[in-house]
Amino acid sequence: MRKIFSFMLPIALVAVISLQSCGDNTTTNSTPSTQSLYTRLGGSAAIDTVVAVFINNVAADPQINFFFAPVLADTTGVRYRLLRQNLVQQICMVTAGPCLYLGKDMRKAHSGMGITAAQFNALVNDLVAAMTTLGVATTEQNDLLAILGPLCGDIVDNGAGTGCP
Ligand code: HEM
Repeated sequence: MRKIFSFMLPIALVAVISLQSCGDNTTTNSTPSTQSLYTRLGGSAAIDTVVAVFINNVAADPQINFFFAPVLADTTGVRYRLLRQNLVQQICMVTAGPCLYLGKDMRKAHSGMGITAAQFNALVNDLVAAMTTLGVATTEQNDLLAILGPLCGDIVDNGAGTGCP
């Protein structure tokens, strides 16, 4: 009996250690990413490119481009650059990047425009199209939309949010 026990002990120990390392691997593999969304999007240069393509899509979108007529008509490019910079800084800040958004709050920035929920969705679709064109992964796209979507209430219908989810 003693002999059997001393023969079995090393086998039992190996089995326990193997099971533990299995458990450790599983934990490591299922640990979610701790990187900020800003980093996962590729940082400020990548966000700037997304915003540039996004503004191009909006400018070509007949559902909403008339809102931006003064920006597009400014041949100096000053208003375009300011809008682009504000959008980049806002996205950088809300995705936990090292930026400070210094523009207006969303209610003030869109007050008096009478933007509808359908027009809000059109703009979001233009953003999704920009991210898809540039190869942003679905997870990062959805994470950004989950942050921007709730702004609907402040932007639509002069801050009344009519028709927002
Ligand atoms: C998640 C959705 C949106 C975000 C994050 C957003 C963000 C911004 C930001 C950061 C600004 C600049 C504010 C400033 O000048 O201080 C702005 C301005 C503006 N936004 Fe939006 N916006 C959104 C939706 C919309 C929609 C749906 C429309 C119209 C359909 C719209 C039309 C405008 C216009 C016309 C301006 C003023 C542009 C200018 O004259 O420089 N926005 N928005």
